[in-house]
Amino acid sequence: MISPGFTLCFLLNGDDVLMLHRRFPPNQGLWNGVGGHIEPGETPQQAVIREVVEETGFTVDRPNFAGLLTWDGFEIPPGGIAIYTAEVPHREFVNNHEGDLAWQPRDWACTAPEVVDNIHVFLPRILAGDGPLQYHFSYRDGKRIKDTISELPEDFDPETPYAPDFSYYEETRGENLLSFDKDRLQINKIEDFLGACYWAKERSLEMIQNSIHNSECIGIYHQGKQVAFARLVTDKATFAWLCDVVVDEAFRGKGFGVWLVEAACDYCDLHGIQQSLLATRDAHELYKKYGGYIPLESPEKWLIRFRPDYN
Ligand SMILES: CC(C)(COP(=O)(O)OP(=O)(O)OC[C@H]1O[C@@H](n2cnc3c(N)ncnc32)[C@H](O)[C@@H]1OP(=O)(O)O)[C@@H](O)C(=O)NCCC(=O)NCCS
Repeated sequence: MISPGFTLCFLLNGDDVLMLHRRFPPNQGLWNGVGGHIEPGETPQQAVIREVVEETGFTVDRPNFAGLLTWDGFEIPPGGIAIYTAEVPHREFVNNHEGDLAWQPRDWACTAPEVVDNIHVFLPRILAGDGPLQYHFSYRDGKRIKDTISELPEDFDPETPYAPDFSYYEETRGENLLSFDKDRLQINKIEDFLGACYWAKERSLEMIQNSIHNSECIGIYHQGKQVAFARLVTDKATFAWLCDVVVDEAFRGKGFGVWLVEAACDYCDLHGIQQSLLATRDAHELYKKYGGYIPLESPEKWLIRFRPDYN
């Protein structure tokens, strides 16, 4: 079943639509509707209401679900966007850091080359009153090569909470990207980060590679360069061990450690994992405050085994 990870909303007032000139990728430099990530566990409608307030200052109570946008071959992994429209009673918006907002004529939004090009395919239909459809766009080498318009998939329900496929889960904050996609990991950076950590400095490159291969991994990237890493050793159902949480020294104190911990906890909650464990020498407050971790309630129940030759 498709579980869209993003929302896109077209706010309408009279003959105009509120458009955002995007400051960041994807679609950097182009005009788009407003919207953004659906948080894991949030429904698309809850997400669009939240995003519209955050990005424009408008409170919309009942956004209209207008369609499902999906893609392949684009600059971000395949996924889905729940499209909404909402009428707003006035034109005064609050600007945001994502880009510049402006009211634009509906015809302009449906045709102008400065607008994200797939909007030209679905917005005219939506504004003409067509019911929700699936709009699928295929891209190759940065070009849109095929549009497919079809009925919504039978099992698609726009009010199902977002349950991401975490192997590709990604979230952007300004110029920073958090991703579970192992293909993005920069092994030399991770080797440097762990080489400076008291618990991992003895690890060989081969051991690091094996540990990555057999774990869920979270990377944070600033302008494409990896600046943070964490690993979850887990069966994806009953148990997880959060470890190797590290932020590049030059990027500490900017919230990346908190972001790693929150993403790891979202992962555990969404997989129904009841117990996740970690060990730390001095970062207890990070995990307590931002992850809800507490000291072992019955440490006498827990045992540890070391390999006989381990010292
Ligand atoms: C610990 C670490 C991951 C934190 O990352 P960071 O990006 O600098 O931290 P953030 O900016 O997200 O903020 C961390 C929050 O946890 C708190 N914190 C608690 N213990 C901490 C500690 N030992 N180090 C850093 N922050 C700590 C901070 O005060 C801050 O909370 P606040 O904003 O409410 O004051 C980073 O300092 C690091 O990589 N350290 C070296 C490796 C390490 O020790 N990892 C943890 C192993 S268990």
